[in-house]
Amino acid sequence: MSILRVNGGGRLDGVINVHGAKNSVLPILAASVLSRSETVIRNCPDLTDVNAAIKILRRLGCRVTREDDTVCVDSREMNRFDIPDKLMREMRSSVIFLGAILARAGEAVLSMPGGCELGPRPIDLHLSALRALGAEISEENGNIVCKGRRLTGCRIDLPIPSVGATENSMLASSRCRGTTVITNAAREPEIWDLQRYLNKIGAKVRGAGSSIITVEGSDFGCSAEHKVIPDRIVAATYLCCAAIAGGRMKVTGVIPRHLETVTDALCEMGCVVIPGDNDIYIRAEDKLKALKPVITRPYPGFPTDAQPPLMAACLKAEGTTAFVENIFRNRYRHVGELRRMGADIRVEDRIAMVSGVKSLSAAPVTSTDLRGGAALVVASLGAEGTSEISKLHHIDRGYEKIEEALASVGADIVRTENTQ
Ligand code: EPZ
Repeated sequence: MSILRVNGGGRLDGVINVHGAKNSVLPILAASVLSRSETVIRNCPDLTDVNAAIKILRRLGCRVTREDDTVCVDSREMNRFDIPDKLMREMRSSVIFLGAILARAGEAVLSMPGGCELGPRPIDLHLSALRALGAEISEENGNIVCKGRRLTGCRIDLPIPSVGATENSMLASSRCRGTTVITNAAREPEIWDLQRYLNKIGAKVRGAGSSIITVEGSDFGCSAEHKVIPDRIVAATYLCCAAIAGGRMKVTGVIPRHLETVTDALCEMGCVVIPGDNDIYIRAEDKLKALKPVITRPYPGFPTDAQPPLMAACLKAEGTTAFVENIFRNRYRHVGELRRMGADIRVEDRIAMVSGVKSLSAAPVTSTDLRGGAALVVASLGAEGTSEISKLHHIDRGYEKIEEALASVGADIVRTENTQ
């Protein structure tokens, strides 16, 4: 089993280019079945979740090739509409294929997505949206069986701005009769990127980025080229690494406004953060300070995915920072592992109180989930000694070669085999 060995205490100086957004490319890969033609997706990151999505596309009968960060999907020959349990278990967010397969094939069978490290991951909002469009959905032997050859546009009122339910609503309604209006839609940049892609292959979607998205159903499908937006959470994570380690670093290939709440927080902690057109410069020379409560909210609020890395950056800050996690019920699983490094964190339900300590000590720690694992990398860079981080499969779901990226700016970090 491979581990990351991190010798903390050194500065980070240099430039890291940030790869394409996992949470944008996944729904776009699902949407590619609607093109019924060839799609070229550029700036596609090399991640295990992306590989899982490619496996699903191939299983559906699509031809998929990859060269560096360019993935070509030809969905002309798609001849299946089911995703088996084994593939569903590889990636929980595969539920995003439901709307796309249903719109393409008129039916879809997916193994019920399991929970995940963040606690129960219900899909009730996805299913109620599809039922509103006229789909018949039953649950049989652990599968979700969806039928809907003649979906009809309607109004879909989302009780919460669920990212996945918004995406599935856009996908399922894109080829039905009539108009669909999605209210209380998620406003994340990845939703906007999905709209851009859908319109390139002939769909008629507007309003992404606002709370109201309108989809004019039509019988579309054509080839397209698309460059995926940069990963705002990966960019935020690398900036948190520079904050705790100290140094002068730049992340490039980013859209600064997409992570404004995170850069504002780092400025409040005492870092100098200067956004450019498509890069962000950070200078961390002074002792970090605690900041006002970090409250996670749907975009444009503070992103839940940046909560763990920012929490790690706060571990040695002067003072106490309160975190309030409003999006997921179980998103403090990294706290126990951070405490092994000497962190002073008290958790009460959705609230975590992080009190800065003078120093962190390296320790063997285990990734609990994707962003929790990233938090361990951040903390280990600010710890004295050599930490060993295991269960890297969590981190590799969302960070492309994280050790190479950080080593390129001076981090003493290697991926190696665990000798124990
Ligand atoms: C997406 O997950 C992202 N994943 C998550 O990123 C991200 O944390 C999340 O949005 C919030 O921004 C992808 O895009 C692949 P939600 P998603 O539906 O769509 C509840 C990462 O680290 N809910 O917006 O699953 C749900 O339980 C991952 O990259 C229902 O109750 O998130 C949660 O509490 C982690 N019923 C809240 O809504 C539903 O039917 C927000 O979930 C759906 C969701």
